[in-house]
Amino acid sequence: MSEQPKKLTLPGLFKNASEGKPITWLTCYDYPTAYLQEQAGVDMILVGDSLGMTMLGYDSTLPVTMDDMIRHSAAVRRGAPNTWLIGDMPYMSYQPSVESAIRNAGRFMAEAGCDSVKLEGGEAVCDRIRGIVDAGIPVVGHLGLTPQSVSSLGGFRLQGKSAATAKKIVDDARALEEAGVYMILLELVPDRLCQLITERANNCLIMSLGSGLHAHGQLLIYHDAFALYPKFKPRMAKVFADAGSVIREGLKSYVKEVKDKTFPAPENWFGMADEEFDELMRLLEREE
Ligand code: KIV
Repeated sequence: MSEQPKKLTLPGLFKNASEGKPITWLTCYDYPTAYLQEQAGVDMILVGDSLGMTMLGYDSTLPVTMDDMIRHSAAVRRGAPNTWLIGDMPYMSYQPSVESAIRNAGRFMAEAGCDSVKLEGGEAVCDRIRGIVDAGIPVVGHLGLTPQSVSSLGGFRLQGKSAATAKKIVDDARALEEAGVYMILLELVPDRLCQLITERANNCLIMSLGSGLHAHGQLLIYHDAFALYPKFKPRMAKVFADAGSVIREGLKSYVKEVKDKTFPAPENWFGMADEEFDELMRLLEREE
């Protein structure tokens, strides 16, 4: 087992950004992957409600519940005790009211050990953000392609292509910063728009997911980056290692070796001393 990395804090994230060191961020949903991500030196982990698609097989993130999120976030925390951990607020956990937003954000902190929460939306959710920040919980905003609103956005597609829609995203970013977020994720917006918002940010880190290089750091969905999602691979993702193929080949070998009886081999089982086995047979015979 290798040494635990030192835990990165909020001031540490800002320090890295001010020194021009890009922040690395990945989604994660389970204990063993969290362990690997921490060992690899990933700066931040997002337990995204994308787990509805990547882990639970739904077609969207909408069916994901707070209880799903807490269970997965707590498992990730156990695997990555020293990584800045952000819990993603699922659909209808903050939309109904400021009170529901504060209560559910608090659950991520108290029950799962998160360091922060993320929620989707601009101007319209600023009162929720203020409430959560006032409760002492650091908040990440999320603009551009916001999967919980995929119906009204017309699908999983680039946002802010026209001057007017780009202006709305710039205005929303300013509103989120004023409401107190310390970070904004820009998902699938043009790179120039991401660069502009990054340059205008005062006390707020801007992260890119499919929005180009000019941000304080990058986020990727773990399952896209390691070819583990069977349905599609978005263009914005790069496959850093084809774990899906490695696992598929391993599974085929397992099936073959069990069928042709080359697994298990003697090193995979335990024997029993002759005298114990003979005694067992005597005991059984006595019963007959
Ligand atoms: O749920 C998630 O993983 C997310 C990303 C798409 C940013 O919100």
